[in-house]
Amino acid sequence: MIAEEKKVSKLKGKVAVITGGNSGIGLATAQRFVSEGAYVFIAGRRQSELDAAVKQIGEKNVSGVHADVSNIADLDRLYAVVEEQKGRIDILFANAGVSEFAPLGKITEAHFDKIFSVNVKGLLFSVQKALHCFMMAAQLF
Ligand SMILES: NC(=O)c1ccc[n+]([C@@H]2O[C@H](COP(=O)([O-])OP(=O)(O)OC[C@H]3O[C@@H](n4cnc5c(N)ncnc54)[C@H](OP(=O)(O)O)[C@@H]3O)[C@@H](O)[C@H]2O)c1
Repeated sequence: MIAEEKKVSKLKGKVAVITGGNSGIGLATAQRFVSEGAYVFIAGRRQSELDAAVKQIGEKNVSGVHADVSNIADLDRLYAVVEEQKGRIDILFANAGVSEFAPLGKITEAHFDKIFSVNVKGLLFSVQKALHCFMMAAQLF
């Protein structure tokens, strides 16, 4: 019983952002974080999946933000929403990603650009653009 109470409040008051939070590992993590007391912003491209995920999590202590991590303007908008609503980030799970495999001889430039724009560019700028909100959490501003 005591262990269960501790689990529930482990993330109490924490603000988390989970990219790719509308399905799979990201959604499972969002559910867990909310159950442990965090407020969670989930981001993804498919609005219908975002809406369904918010509903599945329970519509409390969760917001869905439509954002493509490979689009810098979308990331700026995501963190502007977080900053406006919560003023900081304590936890970032940069989870959004795509996996499409092809044999070396069949990789096209379009395939390469798609994978790298999400998994490399998207990952790097998801973290870089969040720095400001992390500094606010650490009260460095
Ligand atoms: N499952 C595995 O075995 C495994 C193994 C190694 C690595 N991973 C990595 O772990 C992460 C989660 O995997 P998963 O199995 O949970 O995959 P998943 O169910 O396909 O989830 C991927 C998530 O990323 C989002 N996403 C994809 N591209 C995006 C973009 N450009 N901008 C914003 N969101 C984007 C998707 O939402 P939208 O489509 O709505 O944008 C979705 O919510 C991925 O990065 C995956 O590559 C998974």
